[in-house]
Amino acid sequence: MGLLVHIFAAIVALNLVGRAALQTDQPVLDLFPEFNSLKTSYHQTIQTFQSEFQTIQSELATVKSKLQSFSEPRPAFLAVWTADTVALRSGDIIKFNHVVTDIGNDYSSSTGKFKAPKQGTYFFGGTVVSAPPDPLNLSLMKSGTPIMNPYATGTQGDSYTFTAVLQLNAGDTVYVQKPSGAEKAYGRSHSIFSGFMIF
Ligand SMILES: *[C@@H]1O[C@H](CO)[C@@H](O)[C@H](O)[C@H]1NC(C)=O
Repeated sequence: MGLLVHIFAAIVALNLVGRAALQTDQPVLDLFPEFNSLKTSYHQTIQTFQSEFQTIQSELATVKSKLQSFSEPRPAFLAVWTADTVALRSGDIIKFNHVVTDIGNDYSSSTGKFKAPKQGTYFFGGTVVSAPPDPLNLSLMKSGTPIMNPYATGTQGDSYTFTAVLQLNAGDTVYVQKPSGAEKAYGRSHSIFSGFMIF
């Protein structure tokens, strides 16, 4: 009987102490300050890692898109004018008809125009040959604006070679046009028009 009373008393005592411990608002782990400071520094370390990881992710995305645009084929063309002697009138655009190279299909031999598929810096080059006794006065055009006037005299075999570096917007056109007057010119595969996107 005495033993049972003792056991009962112990159970009641443990129950009271246990309840008191459970009812306290303070988390048990707060009782260990070392643990708390460890937890704080661990939390800060993870936050630092997260923000560094986000920076790396966005830098990687930038590098990826740059690599992608770099590895895309860039427009490039070469067209040769095979016509013999052609009488050009004011406003005529030379249709360099024999397309040797046309990566991206941005040059049209039916219009004689190169149309920029995207914004960028482009190089153009070409040679035009006059048909004596006519001189040959042409314009390299950028979307309706003359950039330069390739000019060859009416001396047999005279030619003009032009080069141009142009900043184009998508949709800009570049072509060779007779700005005024009427003159003959040689195709004969002497006259050519070429270009490519630099960057
Ligand atoms: C060539 O044509 C342009 C535009 O019409 C004109 O300004 C220029 O004087 C011409 N050049 C020659 C040498 O005729």
